[in-house]
Amino acid sequence: MIPDPRRPFPGASHLGFGCASLGSRIAARPGLDAMAASFEMGVNWFDVAPSYGDGNAEVILSQFTRGRRSQIYICTKCGIVPPKVSLIAAALRPVARAIVARAPSLRRAAASARAPARRISFSAEQVQSSLEASLKRLRTDYVDVLALHEPSVSDLERDDVQTTFESILQSGKARALGIAGTPEAIETGLRLGLPLSHIQLSDGPIETCLLSLNAKLERLLDGLLIVTHSVFSKGPKLDALHGIGDLQRLSAALNELGYHEPLQDALRAATLDYALSSNYQGTVLVSMFSESHRKFNISRISEHSDARANQIANVFAKFPWAIKSDPSSMSKLSNPEAKS
Ligand SMILES: NC(=O)c1ccc[n+]([C@@H]2O[C@H](COP(=O)([O-])OP(=O)(O)OC[C@H]3O[C@@H](n4cnc5c(N)ncnc54)[C@H](OP(=O)(O)O)[C@@H]3O)[C@@H](O)[C@H]2O)c1
Repeated sequence: MIPDPRRPFPGASHLGFGCASLGSRIAARPGLDAMAASFEMGVNWFDVAPSYGDGNAEVILSQFTRGRRSQIYICTKCGIVPPKVSLIAAALRPVARAIVARAPSLRRAAASARAPARRISFSAEQVQSSLEASLKRLRTDYVDVLALHEPSVSDLERDDVQTTFESILQSGKARALGIAGTPEAIETGLRLGLPLSHIQLSDGPIETCLLSLNAKLERLLDGLLIVTHSVFSKGPKLDALHGIGDLQRLSAALNELGYHEPLQDALRAATLDYALSSNYQGTVLVSMFSESHRKFNISRISEHSDARANQIANVFAKFPWAIKSDPSSMSKLSNPEAKS
């Protein structure tokens, strides 16, 4: 990563740790171990939200940050609250985790059986009280970033929310403010002149959201810490391709860029390299609770550039990935990580 001194948090790691599954899919102990291992390998940006892990993630994260707070950046959010989980569902969670661990193909079914997180409309009181509650759960005096979680355009236009932003910054309880949401919401927040230092959006070689936003907003993105996510969750999947011909063509095209067989590994390396390259001065969030994912992902951090991102996107643009034609995948954009 080439740090840009004009951006906030120039010491933030190029890969960030996404905590959306911490306390739901992933139990506390393996979650803490995964965060500690990532930290040892240089990851210092941790992304969380009140809704993550069905409401458990911030508390578990606080156990990890104890004694390390000054070496770690925390971004939390406000605007989406966790689902109400019944006592029976909570008691059955370890059983569900064990079943999914043995049969990963059941993960989607297990996720869809869970109650969804709920979006609430923003108000000055809600933003303030959400931050206070997050600080308590995180057992800290401040968060590095407080981001509005999937705000609508009208949420951002509210005068009371804008005034609250100023007073939160003055209080020092959040060192910076951000928007974690759609490119449209981010554009609105920036054009309204909100005091934002951070934006967080989905980006990958199929969607290429950051390249488009950069082209559209140019200088408005200067001086922001850009954080991207959804590298694998919305990345290209081999099962979206039809027939051996597509697979062979993809393999040959990736080969030309230096990604070699097996194809699955070439695909995920190119997918992650795209994300690291398109956001080479920012932070790319990944979920990496599994040791093999973590090692793989951290091993890809090196020099990246816009040119590499373009090369990879050009390869993927030649294939009919399901996300482009599957309208349900777009509808998940409103709260994509709620079921992580
Ligand atoms: N609106 C928002 O604010 C928003 C929306 C979405 C995401 N996020 C943030 O971004 C974080 C990441 O979420 P995401 O949706 O972008 O998830 P992701 O990083 O794309 O991960 C999705 C899945 O891919 C797996 N994976 C990780 N590395 C892999 C690799 N090298 N090869 C194959 N599979 C791999 C992960 O497994 P394991 O975890 O089991 O290792 C996880 O099951 C979230 O935790 C959250 O912090 C924010």
